[in-house]
Amino acid sequence: MANQDEFFKKVVAHAKEYGFIFPSSEIYDGLAAVYDYGQMGVELKNNIKQYWWRAMVQMHENIVGLDSAIFMHPRIWKASGHVDAFNDPLIDNKDSKKRYRADVLIEDHIAKIEDKIEKECEKAHKRFGDAFDRQQFVTTNARVLEHQKQIDEIQAKYAELMNANDLVGLKQLILDLGIVCPISGTRNWTDVRQFNLMFATKMGSVIDDSDTLYLRPETAQGIFVNFLNVQKSGRMKVPFGIAQIGKAFRNEIVARQFIFRMREFEQMEMQFFVRPGTELEWFKRWKEERLQWHLALGIPEECYRFHDHEKLAHYANAATDIEFRFPFGFKELEGIHSRTDFDLSRHSEFSGKKLQYFDSELNENYTPYVIETSIGVDRMFLAVFSHALKEESLEDGSTRTVLNLPARLAPYKAAVLPLVKKDGLPEKAREVQHLLMPEMMVQYDEKDAIGRRYRRQDAIGTPFCITVDNDTLENGAVTVRHRDSMQQERVAIDQLLPYLKARL
Ligand code: GAP
Repeated sequence: MANQDEFFKKVVAHAKEYGFIFPSSEIYDGLAAVYDYGQMGVELKNNIKQYWWRAMVQMHENIVGLDSAIFMHPRIWKASGHVDAFNDPLIDNKDSKKRYRADVLIEDHIAKIEDKIEKECEKAHKRFGDAFDRQQFVTTNARVLEHQKQIDEIQAKYAELMNANDLVGLKQLILDLGIVCPISGTRNWTDVRQFNLMFATKMGSVIDDSDTLYLRPETAQGIFVNFLNVQKSGRMKVPFGIAQIGKAFRNEIVARQFIFRMREFEQMEMQFFVRPGTELEWFKRWKEERLQWHLALGIPEECYRFHDHEKLAHYANAATDIEFRFPFGFKELEGIHSRTDFDLSRHSEFSGKKLQYFDSELNENYTPYVIETSIGVDRMFLAVFSHALKEESLEDGSTRTVLNLPARLAPYKAAVLPLVKKDGLPEKAREVQHLLMPEMMVQYDEKDAIGRRYRRQDAIGTPFCITVDNDTLENGAVTVRHRDSMQQERVAIDQLLPYLKARL
């Protein structure tokens, strides 16, 4: 755990030092759980969004995009259930006066038991070496099985209590598990209460007469209320999807873990409208497709796992999370939900407008069922960024910090570096830079020794460094250095563009 904490601190520090993420309003001492993306961060974030948009919209002829407004009619949030039920169960410790989410206290308790399983696996791995079979070990080792049994029992109890909205039972579970406040170390807890997570604001010039609006807590509702507009104007046929990327706002009480849980964040959501009765089939397909999207980035499969929900929201008939191994353990990265016809039916009821589809093949009208895929841009950022950050020991005894981001997500694809700042090398390097610029993000750097410049590019994740030296002036070739292997090869300038594009 200590190592994980240390590593996570490095992630946060690196993000700031190299212009990826800054605390919001820092010169005014910051604003809790709000962050700004710097010059590198905005590139990485845009590349993540583009990677998602390409895969979801461009690569599916039956999925189209949308950009709906953040402000929406307040009745939308009544219809969606957010006004009445978008709550977190909160509990205070009377000694430290600190407030916690009851569900997070229980999740953290479970994470500690999961850590024990991990430690058993690490010990066994050391003992058995290459012969270690994790799957066999976790299904047969007595201590691991005992820990797993504990986890299953807690999860089942927790799901039962949450389903019944049993706040008294939730407090009792916290007491029974012996959970203490991390600050005071005591079990002196208040009762559990529900707290709504939406930010409210006012619209109109006269505050008293104006309507209360909510900053949207998810982008999905903008899609539901535009269902008919898109379907009719785009002559869309079920099954079809509507995808959207945009800001969402939640007044998170336990806002922590950097950009994992923010108060202002961004979501990439897609609602897929299907015939009633086919939704579980589509749910399975989207589960697989979304996992493949993650794996296509080249991050190893063991960093991901599905967590099927035991506690289903009242409108869902299946739900799963794709969890990622963050520096603080496996946590939700993306949600995939089978939301039945709940949202469209509720908006029909509350707006008085029929939100139905005429299926000409079946010759009938129905309210489509919906499969939703929903992923946080910032959480995806944290996943790829923290996985990419490595401290490597080199053969010559030195170390280097490298961000081995998937090349397609890297802020800069190449850096052009004249070996020295004279003899016409900067001019030649500028030529190379301008050759590449229309096709990709390129940095030019002539300051400091070449080794230090390589390190700077390693730290921001640039996959290729292109060095222009005296030979370049003679033979028209440059040295391309690969970020991960540090191997170098000579490439003719007129071949450079196809060479790089083939590797990006
Ligand atoms: N429309 C469904 C929905 O919003 P959710 O599980 O509440 O479902 C979906 O959120 C995704 O949005 C999460 O998997 C996570 O990646 C991201 N997300 C949710 N709350 C967040 C927060 N406070 N900060 C950053 N990302 C968040």
